[in-house]
Amino acid sequence: MNSNSIKDVNFKGRKVLLRVDFNVPMDDHRHITDDTRMRESMPTIQKLLTDGAAVIIMAHFGRPKGGFDAALSLGPVAKHLEELLQKPVVFFPELINDKVREAARNLQGGEVMLLENIRFYEGETKGDESFARELASLGDCYVNDAFGAAHREHASTAVVARCFPHDKYFGFLMEHEVRNLEKLMHGAARPFTAIIGGSKVSSKIGILENLIPKVDNMVIIGGMRYTFTKALGGKIGNSICEDDKMDLALALLKKMDEAGVQYYLPTDSVIADNFSNDAKTQVVASNAVPDGWESMDCGPESCRKIREVIMASKTILWNGPAGVFEFPAFAKGTNEIARCVAEACEQGTFAAIGGGDSVAAVKQMGLADRMSYVSTGGGAMLEYLEGKALPGIVAIEQ
Ligand code: 3PG
Repeated sequence: MNSNSIKDVNFKGRKVLLRVDFNVPMDDHRHITDDTRMRESMPTIQKLLTDGAAVIIMAHFGRPKGGFDAALSLGPVAKHLEELLQKPVVFFPELINDKVREAARNLQGGEVMLLENIRFYEGETKGDESFARELASLGDCYVNDAFGAAHREHASTAVVARCFPHDKYFGFLMEHEVRNLEKLMHGAARPFTAIIGGSKVSSKIGILENLIPKVDNMVIIGGMRYTFTKALGGKIGNSICEDDKMDLALALLKKMDEAGVQYYLPTDSVIADNFSNDAKTQVVASNAVPDGWESMDCGPESCRKIREVIMASKTILWNGPAGVFEFPAFAKGTNEIARCVAEACEQGTFAAIGGGDSVAAVKQMGLADRMSYVSTGGGAMLEYLEGKALPGIVAIEQ
């Protein structure tokens, strides 16, 4: 990646077209509730501005159905960007027109402009070449810092790069993400433990299969573990299960055995008599959940075992929560994993955290800064870990 790094280039006098992922969570009043993605792209923006470049930023927000939609405008993002940069941001809450083009043309070195939600244009998600060319005409080089959108082959994330065969670069955030993921996939210190959770096996098949030849331990947590437990003959009560994936679950366990991967399925569970925070609870063996009850979290014995595995690992990848952590009564397993991983990092273990829910848990506990690496990409990180080439990365490397 280094040959395409912005680090080695001076952008003085250049007009840089910069793609970022500012798809940040907002509350009902359109207040940004977590600006991590924005803050993580600041070093890239600051470097370009300090060099003396005029920076035209492209970003998406949500999934607009077509055309301008005030509810999905980047207005709040533009305002917050001004606060983060401590300087004015040129922003028009309208589609690219003569006024916007002229503003882009007149943008001076050290100035920054944000285009309105790039997904208001049909050509964006279609990866339309003429739309990409129109975007390209606004700048004279391209920088991609949108790791979170790197798995999308869209006009502004991939296609536009072809318009700048000799002038396309990775931003610092993108470089940082890929360097860490590469370390995980190709240079992991052993033992390497993957902790994979979430509610569905079906959404994690690719990652499990791709990780089997690379890891020493696989800890399977969250709702998806019940498909495995049931496939192994356990009683799971009303716990979440994909009956049509039980054969696949057994095949995955067989592959792990054949590859010498030690796998761990939680042996005990916190179960509830209904799906709510104040449900009646008890701790039982994971393969003996009574009818009418459902599992909501790992039990204490499983937490102790997972802790042992974590503390003996030199590399950890954690994707997906252990239980229904959005209910405080069932967040203990997830929180305990977050604490143990943070502790392991302090002892020199390299740990990567990815996926919306595990990242949210780590942040909620104030532990993000203690982790080696917390990815800003949800789907992008998942696809990378599945072994797929990400169009946003390929487009710069080609
Ligand atoms: C994300 O939030 O994961 C990225 O911004 C990509 O968004 P998308 O899933 O709508 O393409």
